[in-house]
Amino acid sequence: MKDQAWWKESVVYQIYPRSFNDSNGDGVGDIRGITKKLNYLKELGIDIIWLSPVYQSPNDDNGYDISDYQQIMAEFGSMADFDELLHEMHQRDMKLMMDLVVNHTSDEHEWFKQARQSKDNPYRNYYYWKPGKDGAEPNNWESVFSGSAWEYDQNTDEYYLHLFSKKQPDLNWENPTVRNEIYEMMKFWLEKGIDGFRMDVINFISKVPSLPDGESVDGKNYVSGSRYFMNGPRIHEFLQEMNKKVLSQYDIITVGEMPGVDVEEAKKYTGENRNELNMVFQFEHVDLDSGPSGKWELKDLRLQDLKASISKWQKGLEEVGWNSLYLNNHDQPRMVSRFGDDGKYWSESAKMLATFLHFLKGTPYIYQGEELGMTNVQFEAIDDYKDIETLNMYREKVIENGCDHDQVMESIYAKGRDNARTPMQWDDSMNGGFTSGKPWIKVNPNYKNINAEQQLKDHASIYRYYQKLIQLRKQNEIIVYGKYDLLLPEHSEIYAYTRTLGREKLFVLLNFSKEKVSFEAPEELLVKQKDLLISNYDANEENTIEKISLLPFEARVYKVYI
Ligand code: NOJ
Repeated sequence: MKDQAWWKESVVYQIYPRSFNDSNGDGVGDIRGITKKLNYLKELGIDIIWLSPVYQSPNDDNGYDISDYQQIMAEFGSMADFDELLHEMHQRDMKLMMDLVVNHTSDEHEWFKQARQSKDNPYRNYYYWKPGKDGAEPNNWESVFSGSAWEYDQNTDEYYLHLFSKKQPDLNWENPTVRNEIYEMMKFWLEKGIDGFRMDVINFISKVPSLPDGESVDGKNYVSGSRYFMNGPRIHEFLQEMNKKVLSQYDIITVGEMPGVDVEEAKKYTGENRNELNMVFQFEHVDLDSGPSGKWELKDLRLQDLKASISKWQKGLEEVGWNSLYLNNHDQPRMVSRFGDDGKYWSESAKMLATFLHFLKGTPYIYQGEELGMTNVQFEAIDDYKDIETLNMYREKVIENGCDHDQVMESIYAKGRDNARTPMQWDDSMNGGFTSGKPWIKVNPNYKNINAEQQLKDHASIYRYYQKLIQLRKQNEIIVYGKYDLLLPEHSEIYAYTRTLGREKLFVLLNFSKEKVSFEAPEELLVKQKDLLISNYDANEENTIEKISLLPFEARVYKVYI
């Protein structure tokens, strides 16, 4: 067994502050709103909050475009509110992980305002500037948010690089002054006492310096040019430098968001002797239901593919690094709508998916509202959507290229990021109790049936099930440290796996389908004595079974001694 660590034993809860809880009626969630809900989170049992960005920002990408790293966004409150939140969390023994967005800044950041003034401005080299090539962009790289990754700047007759929106210019990490500025800023927050960083697209910070044209990226869900900026030539050097100068000085949790990372790279990022990061957010399992052209091309998920992918990561990082476990976040659709059934088997499938995730080896992340089984939303008008990625894609496809409106809306219903960003559903009062004002984005109309108040009263609710899963993690070391092994790799409805630690074993049996499924129990399951640790249907005490049958979306976890 590898070293024990508190961040392996913890459960993380992600807060997207804009949509969590509004304390002052302006329709936007805020920091005091979060502080008011700490007891709710404590009762759930979570250990760490990952807070999406709360820094000063013009909100082109809801805070992921930062104009001052050391100020709080006015809409969210003040630094005093932040200090109070941190204090109240620590009082309750909860830790705070902040978002670190340093692949890019906002174009309204002072550094960029300076940089764009002239070619010889001392800040010019904080960003990537290039003259055009044959009257066009310097290369063919595409922005993740549609269109070219370059924006022309008339004032100096050059282009600047933005892998995301044109209001998110990429920082030049080749410049050591940039790196040191960032390290100092990180220390500012760590000295305040925060407990870690989630690092936004951190594997994009090292670009191949000649910025070559990208080739076709068939079969990959990435934009043109991505192989020249994902996991680039100096990425490990930069992270090791950051680790040495900053991270290693504190007892913190670190997780790097890394589109396009594979297991071999992840071993380097998370290897316990490499001094980079604790874990990464990889994307393989959330790309399985996308076609070759990317996330908007919908494709059915094959359970066998999910098993193969998850198992590859579980085995790949075993004894080497550490996995993060997630099925949704502020960029992904709601998991119950995507991998489960948000109709008839809403509650069963939400609990089954939670069981699946929380018994894997790694640190589980819960995204706000997931513990209530919040679902995707379908707004009728495109104007009801707020997300820049969705709106840019719609404009490019429907308005500029004449694609079919209904078909594009279907893809937004399935994959749009606003599915995750509708306000948290606290109760059945107006706006789900999120705000007394007009919410910045519409509330999901199902808040009357799906809300926290109702689930706190109900002992069989999804919230109560999550509470139990988290308690079990605290009581059973095997859930944290046990070795993972897949059973039945080819079964198309059942996902079954074991965890093993010393003489203990867990059997996790999950039906991913709407049908009742029977199967021959694998040899390993034919033991006399099994304790049912948790299940999402009323306990079904079949303790010596050779033929197992699982109800729609049933989940059962047994513990045995070998
Ligand atoms: C990943 C973040 O999670 C996403 O919300 C954001 O739009 C991009 N990075 C750009 O910062």
